[in-house]
Amino acid sequence: MLKRLSLITMAALLALGVGFADQNNNKLTLTANKTSPTSGKQMYSSYCAPCHGSDGRGNGPVAPALKVPPTDLTLLTRNNRGKFPDSHIVTVLQNGTDLRAHGNQEMPVWGPIFGKMNTTNPQDKLLRISNVSRYLETLQVK
Ligand code: HEC
Repeated sequence: MLKRLSLITMAALLALGVGFADQNNNKLTLTANKTSPTSGKQMYSSYCAPCHGSDGRGNGPVAPALKVPPTDLTLLTRNNRGKFPDSHIVTVLQNGTDLRAHGNQEMPVWGPIFGKMNTTNPQDKLLRISNVSRYLETLQVK
């Protein structure tokens, strides 16, 4: 999936603090700037806004370079019959989206990226995922 990101996409992400490192076997790994695991807002701005937009509506600076448009994250509650889909978001952040199986998705899998940020504290990853999800909840339209 990240292989599909164009150079323009990568340049834009780099400028925004999300970087890519090329590994031997052609696989691209996402590395990311330091953020506080307690600030969902800071993590969202650094890691999600480049694609999903700072307001969550899917119009971040990188969005035009993607083949699949980033999901409008302000409609998660509305599209889930009025209930914020917290456990779905946690799963998506941990393991990637459902579309991943179909081989055409550009949404990074955050679990492994967050997991590398603090290897001495296994709780750090879960705290990050939970706080990003809680921040998304604040972006929901009524
Ligand atoms: C490189 C661009 C990119 C970045 C960075 C990115 N996303 Fe996405 N995201 C996408 C795209 C494209 C989709 C829609 C296609 C898909 O589901 O694969 C998506 C879909 C989603 C979905 C909906 C998935 C579903 O199955 O309902 C959620 C939730 C989401 N992103 C959250 C986030 C969060 C939170 C972050 C930051 C931690 C983030 N994204 C960072 C591109 C990105």
